[in-house]
Amino acid sequence: MTQKRDIITGLDVGTTKICALVAEREENGDIRILGVGTYPSRGLRKGEVINITEAVASIEKAVSQAENICEFEVTSVIAGITGSHIQSFNSRAVLPVANPSIGVTRKDMFRAIDAAQAVPLPRDREVLHVIPQEFSVDDRKGIADPEGMEGVRLEAQVHLVSGEVAARRNLVNCITQAGFEVEEFVLQQLASSLAVVRKEEQQSGVVLVDIGGGTTDYVYFRDEIIRHTRVLGVGGDHLTNDISLGMKLLLRQAEELKKKYGSALSDRVTGDDELAILDALVRPATGLSRKKLDRIIELRLTELFHLLRRDLEEEGHFQSIGSGLVLTGGGSLQKDIAALAGQITGLPVRIGTPFGVSGLREIIDSPIYSTAVGLVKYGFLRRSSTDRSRGTGDRVPGVLFNGIKRWLDRYF
Ligand SMILES: Nc1ncnc2c1ncn2[C@@H]1O[C@H](COP(=O)(O)OP(=O)(O)OP(=O)(O)O)[C@@H](O)[C@H]1O
Ligand SMILES: [Mg+2]
Repeated sequence: MTQKRDIITGLDVGTTKICALVAEREENGDIRILGVGTYPSRGLRKGEVINITEAVASIEKAVSQAENICEFEVTSVIAGITGSHIQSFNSRAVLPVANPSIGVTRKDMFRAIDAAQAVPLPRDREVLHVIPQEFSVDDRKGIADPEGMEGVRLEAQVHLVSGEVAARRNLVNCITQAGFEVEEFVLQQLASSLAVVRKEEQQSGVVLVDIGGGTTDYVYFRDEIIRHTRVLGVGGDHLTNDISLGMKLLLRQAEELKKKYGSALSDRVTGDDELAILDALVRPATGLSRKKLDRIIELRLTELFHLLRRDLEEEGHFQSIGSGLVLTGGGSLQKDIAALAGQITGLPVRIGTPFGVSGLREIIDSPIYSTAVGLVKYGFLRRSSTDRSRGTGDRVPGVLFNGIKRWLDRYF
């Protein structure tokens, strides 16, 4: 009898492209990418579905491309979710330890986590993720795993991610109509962070910034704990739009110019070269100024990194970022973007591409694939933890996900 294959499909429904990734976990635990499909996104704006029929067609195309490469029939997917409707915050709850004579039990821990997530939300919103951060037992703070510790008072701290019910349902409808079941949703930047952020970075304090087409999504880790997440409604497509308006070009031409010649630093070029667009169908676009192009890009990205910096300062995290920023997503391919981000934040900046998977490396070795690779990595971690907890009587809360592998490893 042949053994059932351990396969997971990640579906990154982005604003500019849909990406499906079929991956298999081999017996030694290695993850191998078997198939990849990408198709331009239609029917999405700022990470949210605005036209179901168009979105369904794009999803079908991306998945069938991936299926054709690996001859595997996809039935279910782990999907990414984002959008300006996403909101997150930290919450805590204190409970008495049920039986102080035996110390803190896992049951106490789950009860405390449950209590911490019981926050009232408006009816049109729901909790997407409950990410346990740390515990305190009496006055001992910052404990990752308090099981067995003596004390009378247990406090749980969690990071809660909430979103609009309708936004998730629209996405579910698209994926279901395309013929696939959604196993789970994962906040896009959490997925991306699994693909590109190293454990040491998570320890010392790192912000993973996924700059997509419609949104910029980030997550801040410190002590390997997810401390903060945010979605900003600004992405690479805003640069294209600014260029189109500022230089009077079609969006398609502006996109070409941005990728081909654009830089995030306007003082990099001395003199002012003239640029030409090759596919000038509507009007011959020559005599375009490189300086002007770079200024437009620099202005918008400067605004973006200032927003990021201000938010991290207001949340009280900025001083604790020991390791710096990791930029990923298609927007991170903008020339000189790391240098600009470094100038504005004063932090070390690197561009993150997926690690820890094999197969089709020549395709997925790009920041554009971070979310999709993270989705399959998440799926396998989740599957192992669920398998491990089977038979032990432990409950696996539906949306328990943590910072990141540590929780999955320790608690299930
Ligand atoms: N070489 C490049 N230089 C500059 N920008 C680029 C380059 N390649 C891609 N981009 C930009 O990256 C953006 C798309 O990134 P990505 O594929 O990560 O987005 P997405 O996942 O579809 O969107 P989102 O995550 O916002 O839903 C576009 O705005 C595109 O113009
Ligand atoms: Mg994306």
